Amino acid sequence: MENNHDIANANRLSGDYHVPVLLGQTLDGLAIQPGGTYVDCTFGGGGHASALLQRLNENGKLIVFDQDADAAANVPADTRVLFIPHNFRHLQRFLRLHNVPLVDGIMADLGVSSHQFDEPARGFSTRFDAALDMRMDRRQPLTAFDVVNTYDEQRLHSLFERYGEVTNAKTLARTIVAVRSTTSLQTINNFKAALHAVVKGNPHKYFAQVFQALRIEVNDEMGALRELLQQVPALLKPGGRVAIITFHSLEDRLVKNFFRHGTFEALETHPFENVTASSALKIITKKPITADSAEQKRNPRSRSAKLRIAEKI
Ligand SMILES: C[S@@+](CC[C@H](N)C(=O)[O-])C[C@H]1O[C@@H](n2cnc3c(N)ncnc32)[C@H](O)[C@@H]1O
Repeated sequence: MENNHDIANANRLSGDYHVPVLLGQTLDGLAIQPGGTYVDCTFGGGGHASALLQRLNENGKLIVFDQDADAAANVPADTRVLFIPHNFRHLQRFLRLHNVPLVDGIMADLGVSSHQFDEPARGFSTRFDAALDMRMDRRQPLTAFDVVNTYDEQRLHSLFERYGEVTNAKTLARTIVAVRSTTSLQTINNFKAALHAVVKGNPHKYFAQVFQALRIEVNDEMGALRELLQQVPALLKPGGRVAIITFHSLEDRLVKNFFRHGTFEALETHPFENVTASSALKIITKKPITADSAEQKRNPRSRSAKLRIAEKI
């Protein structure tokens, strides 16, 4: 269970960058071997990583990934830590490069950090005016500006519906395509003003859903998660654990199905009745772990967090 010492340390070390969610539950779920090798795929402010490091002895190793260059400033000066400033979809490639064939545990705390949301220039938040950017990795060319200005109507409709659950996704997509030839959609304020007429319900909530959809698309968050999950079984030692924290139902469904069946589709939808996919993982959490009311009060971001844990057979 969540340990106050872990929380205090993690918050001190990650500062204002990000408050880690489900910290004690994630570390306990990983069943950490003090001399083991672990991977944190989403280092961020290092809240989970620093607490994990506290549970390792001098032989332990912690490999941390983050595709956002800002995270590098949080990496502790500790010889047990190796920071890899790349997308976790390349997990296996980088572990091979560093002669690490197998590990004892892998964790990921998906999505964006509070730091990314709170930096106006990054373009993630509806609260500020800035360029429509939303890239976690600023080396990649595709930005939110490119998505809203170049995608065709069908593609926009589908991403707003799937990734944002925007109720009038079709109207929104049609309006973007209609206005973009005459109106600049360069900045967040331009974008919000141009779409003012199609907002349904609370504008803050509406644009939060629209921005979530754009962010997931820009960073190919679903694609990266699929690629990560597919690499996990081959990288874990038998008995090694994987812990994934998700923040929306599409991600959680991918993790749930992959842990259960080794595929991304629910088994019921498999086209051949007799074909049963099998997983190399044993489920540790039958139901996802969620934040208790104290954590939800302390950290509202934890309200939508779901933690699933599995073990390599
Ligand atoms: C929710 S934050 C993690 C916070 C961290 N657990 C902590 O306690 O501070 C997610 C971080 O993962 C990074 N990230 C998200 N997707 C990534 C990916 N596919 N590859 C590498 N880093 C990623 C983001 O840049 C962000 O810094």
